[in-house]
Amino acid sequence: MTKLNEIYRCSVCGNIVELVHASVGKLVCCDKPMELLQANADDSGATEKHVPVIEKTEKGVRVKIGSVAHPMEPAHFIEWIEILADGQSYKKFLQPGDAPEAEFCISAAEITAREYCNLHGLWKA
Ligand SMILES: [Fe+2]
Repeated sequence: MTKLNEIYRCSVCGNIVELVHASVGKLVCCDKPMELLQANADDSGATEKHVPVIEKTEKGVRVKIGSVAHPMEPAHFIEWIEILADGQSYKKFLQPGDAPEAEFCISAAEITAREYCNLHGLWKA
């Protein structure tokens, strides 16, 4: 049984999918079950920081990765930043060379953020 907004990765080809409709089936890619990614929330023991930092702005919110800016090199970068806000999801895809941050022009009572690092996986705040 899958759940809405879960993120799965294929251990063979690297495909990553996000659930936009949950059901009873198992997700399969390259003839193998896909791996459910669990978001890390604690980078306090690591030199490199990945936990999203959410700040209010005039237009909405800005999400920075992380408390010390994450590298954005071709071999190691943040692929996307997502926020879940009052039941809606918003995502910004990033490229090497971009700033490791995203601004979303929204107003919501409940905001959580997630990001995906190509080397270190899924993180949340
Ligand atoms: Fe990383």
